[in-house]
Amino acid sequence: MHHNGAIHMSRIEIDYDKCVKDRFCIRACPYKLFADSGDGSPVLVENAEDLCIDCGHCLAVCPFGAIALNGVHQEELPDRAPSLDPSPESVEQLFTFRRSIRAYKKTPVERELLVKLAEIARFAPSAVNNQPVHWIMVDSKDVLTQIVSHTAAFMREQGVLPRLAEALDNGMDLILRDAPALAVAHAPSSALSPQVDCVIAATTMELAAASHGLGACWAGLLMRSANDCAPIRELLRLPEDHNAYAALMLGYPKLQYAKRPPRTPARITWI
Ligand SMILES: Cc1cc2nc3c(=O)[nH]c(=O)nc-3n(C[C@H](O)[C@H](O)[C@H](O)COP(=O)(O)O)c2cc1C
Repeated sequence: MHHNGAIHMSRIEIDYDKCVKDRFCIRACPYKLFADSGDGSPVLVENAEDLCIDCGHCLAVCPFGAIALNGVHQEELPDRAPSLDPSPESVEQLFTFRRSIRAYKKTPVERELLVKLAEIARFAPSAVNNQPVHWIMVDSKDVLTQIVSHTAAFMREQGVLPRLAEALDNGMDLILRDAPALAVAHAPSSALSPQVDCVIAATTMELAAASHGLGACWAGLLMRSANDCAPIRELLRLPEDHNAYAALMLGYPKLQYAKRPPRTPARITWI
């Protein structure tokens, strides 16, 4: 399409030469932005391009690559490899034998692995596909130590869990547990659902870390201090309009758990 001599690329393009009228895009679009023109071939509804949330389901579902979204064509997308699907038993073991790890080897966590984890977590669901999550990765011992001491000072100031600050005075870090790495999920506080989106992303990261033999633990004490303590915000280089909503200590575990501890039975109400 040409506008004033400039090439205008539609956000959603349908290649009718490739379309076999299987209606998959029509059925997959969460907002019903494809209408059936009568013979199964899709046409965009009015304002489709404004209403589209870029979820890419149309692009991913078409077996024939007839859809392009924001200039991305299906050939560029990775194929799912069914042979790599974990069994339900593998998933159950990964999810239920994941433990909060609080004793870490000094071995540094490879930056490639931290990147890999962030790459996996970016496919976590987010409200309206808003994808607001950013990561701050800290693997500098010096910065981690400073974060811990500011957290302790802040907690002491607030009168919260003074025992933890005392422990730090005695050389025991109960805040970040001497973890060699820290991942902080942050997002614009104006996003639609920043806390939930960051928590889901961090949960995804924690499980992905476990699959790599990497231990993690939620850094709740840091999460309570990070946004309100100026020196921590500064150390983390948190953008002013962002808040930290989830934080994970990461590192290789010193202990292995052979057994799964008991947990409260699932409480289910059937309606
Ligand atoms: C939001 C959140 C915050 C947490 N904060 C901390 C923390 O600051 N320090 C810590 O040692 N564990 C923390 N934990 C870990 C919990 O104590 C742990 O998940 C719980 O005891 C169950 O153990 P498991 O994770 O091994 O199943 C936190 C967990 C969550 C979900």
